[in-house]
Amino acid sequence: MHGHEKRNSPPQLRRGGAGQTIRFLDQHHPSLGCASAFPSSAEEGSSFSHKAILLLLLLCLTSCRQYMANQPSYKPYQESGFFPDGTSARPLPEGVIPQGLERTSTTSFPSPVTMDVLKRGQERFNIFCTPCHDHMGTGLGMVARRGFRKMPPSFHTDELRAVAPGYFFDVITHGRGVMPSYAYQISVRDRWAIVAYIRALQLSFDAAASDVPPEELTKLEREQR
Ligand code: HEC
Repeated sequence: MHGHEKRNSPPQLRRGGAGQTIRFLDQHHPSLGCASAFPSSAEEGSSFSHKAILLLLLLCLTSCRQYMANQPSYKPYQESGFFPDGTSARPLPEGVIPQGLERTSTTSFPSPVTMDVLKRGQERFNIFCTPCHDHMGTGLGMVARRGFRKMPPSFHTDELRAVAPGYFFDVITHGRGVMPSYAYQISVRDRWAIVAYIRALQLSFDAAASDVPPEELTKLEREQR
């Protein structure tokens, strides 16, 4: 049955081969314009050369991919024959600070500390810091008391009284130990306001009544009554 069908099929289909297909396409879609690349003689020898040409074209395709995968760029830490020191990783120009790694230990505030700044700092501190550091900054916040193996330190130690404002700014920005970074939640301005408020907390922690201006003292005493 199978053989019978084969005998009855038209001769050009039986011979097959790439040349036949292209000749078929060329007849029905002359716009493809394949005729010049593949002369339409149907002899066995030219069918072989068509296959060879196709094979070459296919090889061209694979080599294209190779060139794309092999780009003229360095892989990390790859050796370089171009730079005199032989390494493709270039040293940073002097004075450059890699983004995200900057550390600040500045000893002054970037803008004047006013009463408004302190109030803003107090508000932000009470929102973001008291859960662990408590309202006084002694490090006994509710969250820390309920399961921190390492408690936050008190801000009222000689050590933390002596550090520069930039140190606090840095800890808020980058976090420290289990304390996360607050860089995404607290703006730079508010971070400085919090630092100013921490300084105020430190100053007030063991201040004597004589440190308070007399008129403020009478106001405070009246408030307490
Ligand atoms: C989730 C709890 C938590 C919150 C919230 C938190 N901290 Fe901390 N903080 C800690 C812990 C715990 C440490 C100790 C980390 C360590 O040394 O391993 C710490 C350390 C610090 C230190 C470093 C003190 C030192 O020893 O040098 C500073 C400064 C500080 N926190 C400030 C803040 C400020 C300001 C905020 C609010 C913006 C804040 N923290 C919010 C838990 C917290």
